[in-house]
This record gives sequence, C-alpha cells and structure tokens, in this order.
Amino acid sequence: MPPTVHVTGDLPARVHDALAESFTLADGVEGVAGILSVLTTPVDVELLDRAGHQLRIVANYGVGVDNVDLEAARARNVVIANTPDVLTDAVAELTIALTLALLRRVAEGDRFLRRQSRWSFSLDFMLGRSLRGKTFGVVGPGRIGRAAASLAEALGARAIFAGRSAVELDALLQTSDVVSLHCPLTPETRHLIDAAALARMRPTSVLVNTARGSIVDEPALVAALRDGTIAGAALDVYEQEPEVSARLLELENVVLTPHVASATPETREAMGMLAVDALRAVLLEGRVPPNTVL
Ligand code: 8YV
Repeated sequence: MPPTVHVTGDLPARVHDALAESFTLADGVEGVAGILSVLTTPVDVELLDRAGHQLRIVANYGVGVDNVDLEAARARNVVIANTPDVLTDAVAELTIALTLALLRRVAEGDRFLRRQSRWSFSLDFMLGRSLRGKTFGVVGPGRIGRAAASLAEALGARAIFAGRSAVELDALLQTSDVVSLHCPLTPETRHLIDAAALARMRPTSVLVNTARGSIVDEPALVAALRDGTIAGAALDVYEQEPEVSARLLELENVVLTPHVASATPETREAMGMLAVDALRAVLLEGRVPPNTVL
C-alpha cells in the first residue's frame, strides 16, 4: 500500500489528483508518513506528536514556514519542505499592485465612487503620487524582494535593500519613499517594524507588507497612520488573520487585500505540485528534495 499522507486544507483538483495517484490519503494525522499543511495549520508539538514517530515529512503549502515549530520538527527528524520560487513573481506583482493602488489612490477612488459621492473633473482632484523617481526600499533581499525591486525599477523607481543589519534597516527606513517587507517571520523579525521603526520613516513615506502580519506591530502602525508619522500603508497580511484591525478599516490612506499575494490558479497549482514532489522524494524515492528548510 502507498504511504499515507494527511492534507490540512482543500487542494486544487490537479494537486489533489497528483497526491492521490502516489499516496493513500488519510482523514486524520495519526500514523501518517507525510503531512501537506497550509499556513493556517500550526505544525506544532501537539500535531507532530499526534502524527507519531513514523512521520517523515511535512510539506508546507507556502514559502513561509512560520506556522511550523522547526525545533520540534528537527528533534523528531521530520523533513520540512516549502514552496519557493514558483510564487516569487505572483507575490512581487501584488506588491507592486498594492504600491500603485496606494500611491495613485486606486482603492480610495473606487470607494469614493461606490459611495456615489458627488464629483466633477478638476485639475487638483484626488492627486496621487508616481512611483517613478521614488526610492523603493526592500526589507529582506531574497527572491521575492529582488523580484519586487526589479518591477519597481521597471517603473522608474530606485531600489535599495536591507538585510539583517540594523544599520542598513535604519538607513533604508530614513531614505525610502516605499518600505516593502519581504523577510520571513522569525523571532528576530517579529515586530521589526514597531513604533520606533515607523518613527524613522518619513511623513510622506508608505509601508507595504506582503510578507507576514506580525513583522509589523499593527497597533503601532495604526497609530502612525492616524497621527501622520507615515503617509499610508498597503497590506496583504495581518497580525491576527483572518481578523483585520477595525481601526485599519476606517482609514482612507490604507489599501487592504486578504492574503492573496500568491493567489493565482497557476501559482497555487505550481506550489501544490512542488509540495507533492517533495512528499514523493522523501516517501517514495528516499531522497531529500532541494526545497527543504530542515
Ligand atoms: C500561501 C504564503 O498562500 O507562501 C506563503 O508563505 O503566505 C502564501 O503564498 C499560503 O502559504 C498558503 O498556505
């Protein structure tokens, strides 16, 4: 009998079929050889122990693995795979879509018209700001950060980068018109953008987050937006997903999307197939695939 795999969420049909072709799909996690997890599933001690010591791999349906207790997985010799590369362009694209929507007031204009507000064309009505000539600051110069930077550069922005160094981050916060977050969520990056970091940004600058909500201290961000410390924010991710702070919803200088940066059918399918390949590698071919974090 093929090895058993438990899936923690609904899958695109092609991914489900590919999985079912190679594995026996189990309803519960108990006794399985592999788990295919989505980001809303905490892969913690409780889940790993419930699965049992025969568990060999958790393939996470996403590039971020902050839902996985890596230490607990390491202690149990469980391989953790993720889905890099195939979502890079989709996430970079949404980063730029959010940036332009914010700077050019696309969502605000849409809300304005849907309220049936009275208006007539005038030369100074709803003026926005162009990305051309601006400094696009990438926090986390990995695959997605570099791809977002290339798109911003294609639109005439100048890209700068900050990695792990605090000095680099401070300089980036002080000089960027757009601060775009692309680092993973780890204990070190939790609340990297707190009240002090926001205070280093310029009052004309904006924050874009397509990475993880908890990289930003959300109450501090709301305060910075309300008191004019920064000019705006475009967010795809939140600290308490699926909750979105009610105070963010009230602000016009904010653009919000519901964690959809990788949400195109092609990308989600490619992510799923990469996860299935990782399960096959470990459970059927006895090899460790390249896309592992442990
Ligand atoms: C996924 C993501 O939609 O890849 C990630 O880290 O946040 C998203 O692309 C999510 O992980 C689905 O489980």
